[in-house]
Amino acid sequence: MSAEHSQVSVCIAGTGSYVPEKVLTNADLEKLVDTTDEWIVTRTGIRERRIAADDEFTSHLATKAALRALEQAAMDPAEIELIIVATITPDTLTPATACYVQQRLGAFGAVAFDISAACSGFLYAMKIAKRLISDGAFSNALIIGAEKLSSFVNWDDRSTCILFGDGAGAAVLRKASGPDDGEILATEMGTDGRQTHLLNIPGGGSACPITIENADKHLATMSMLGKEVFKHAVTRMKESAEKVIARSNLKPEDIALVVPHQANLRIIDAIAERLDVPYDRVFTNLQKYGNTSAAAVAIALDEAHRSGRIKKGEHVVLVVFGAGLTWAAAAIRW
Ligand code: UT7
Repeated sequence: MSAEHSQVSVCIAGTGSYVPEKVLTNADLEKLVDTTDEWIVTRTGIRERRIAADDEFTSHLATKAALRALEQAAMDPAEIELIIVATITPDTLTPATACYVQQRLGAFGAVAFDISAACSGFLYAMKIAKRLISDGAFSNALIIGAEKLSSFVNWDDRSTCILFGDGAGAAVLRKASGPDDGEILATEMGTDGRQTHLLNIPGGGSACPITIENADKHLATMSMLGKEVFKHAVTRMKESAEKVIARSNLKPEDIALVVPHQANLRIIDAIAERLDVPYDRVFTNLQKYGNTSAAAVAIALDEAHRSGRIKKGEHVVLVVFGAGLTWAAAAIRW
């Protein structure tokens, strides 16, 4: 029986990721806004990020990541029963980006929907999919974190435009057929709706439709009170990581790798220190991609897995934080 007392163990059968070709460096941003490579690297750790082409949408990024995860899981798109896309940058407000992904994959046997939990979305999707599989509603699921944040960035705002990038990561979940398959041992998620003002895209929804009168005010772009978000991020990520570690009957020394949300190296350092996990057991790739919101932890997991940082039987902790505020964590035996 698993750590969460499900009847059925659920494992990760494959991971995949995709980032667009175009690289935007800190030196490029120095030409756009009043910033420096030194400021960006010291305050965030980010050196460059990827930017999708004009005709490359969130669903394109998601589909490419999904195909790689399916290939690794040795599964055909037709076998997929559930697709969940976590995104705050959908192709369209409706239908869901997951429907476009279903179309592009030809996965017409799947139920497909989106969830909106910002940077925490991929692990929200993991918890939902795990539960739906362990309850017997589906035997497998494709979960994807995908973002084209470059379409929602105010390129005149130096406090936010240096942070974000585009990309997608995916994982195939299925019933485990035995202990060798590994297992998602514990999942945790939380929300604090009192803090909606700290990080949001204020315009473009029903509260503030974009009109001819306000179209030039950058309302449909990311707005953030960075310092406040930072404090909440450290506390919530530490707490939720500790919960999944304890619920899996593990200790910090049992964790081979922590894969955190990739927003800021200083946040990651603070969490590693508070969790008492040495820095060489923490995976980072934000130097290359910046913050890709829901995609970040999914891309990091795939890169960690494919580069051999995660080995069979090892324990991995994923932990994320984002707008909402939202946070989530998962402990996995690989
Ligand atoms: O993914 C969801 C979760 N998001 C996060 O976790 C993000 C959390 N927050 C952060 O990562 C950090 O707060 C930031 C990286 C966003 C900002 O770092 P900070 O150390 O909190 O800087 P700050 O916002 O307090 O700004 C410090 C100074 C300000 O100047 P003054 O008021 O001290 O004169 C800013 O105007 O740095 C200035 N500044 C910049 N300077 C050069 C802000 N952005 C820039 C910039 N280049 N790009």
